[in-house]
Amino acid sequence: MMPEHANNYGNVHGGWIVKIADEAAAISAMRHARRPAVTVAIDSMSFKSPVKVGALMSISASVNWVGHASMEIGVKVTAEHPITGEVTHTNSAYFVFVALGDDGKPCEVPDLELVDDEERRRFQAGAERQQRRRSGANERQRDVLAL
Ligand SMILES: CC(C)(COP(=O)(O)OP(=O)(O)OC[C@H]1O[C@@H](n2cnc3c(N)ncnc32)[C@H](O)[C@@H]1OP(=O)(O)O)[C@@H](O)C(=O)NCCC(=O)NCCS
Repeated sequence: MMPEHANNYGNVHGGWIVKIADEAAAISAMRHARRPAVTVAIDSMSFKSPVKVGALMSISASVNWVGHASMEIGVKVTAEHPITGEVTHTNSAYFVFVALGDDGKPCEVPDLELVDDEERRRFQAGAERQQRRRSGANERQRDVLAL
């Protein structure tokens, strides 16, 4: 991370972290769907530790769950101190992407091949989060509109 990514405190700006996490999630979604995909929701974005300028940032993204056109991608961000090698888990988030067909409308994505219990657990947890997202979406929208 370079000085142009920093805020006034010398830490990497949170918006920059969200941007590159979104890009990593997008690549993960598109590689699964083999279609263009757009972000439809971001949640549980956590900022556990600051990322310092000079740190080597790494992002891991994986598809946790798929519906018809939507996919939940889990993203984990780590920062490595290039001299000491110390690695810190700095951020996590869930991104929901929707695959788009040639007509620009949501299109079906392939099923996930779940190969072990851990993948099955993540899929189930993703399905439950998506259900909560969808049931909470109208209420959240109302609260935003009330501002
Ligand atoms: C993504 C988009 C095409 C979806 O259109 P839509 O009319 O809401 O489509 P649908 O209602 O059919 O929903 C499509 C899927 O998205 C899911 N979805 C829609 N809104 C969601 C939300 N807020 N949270 C989670 N999932 C959501 C639906 O559950 C559905 O999933 P499924 O197909 O797996 O069952 C439209 O919302 C859009 O263009 N959004 C803007 C995207 C964008 O500009 N992103 C930023 C830049 S990449």
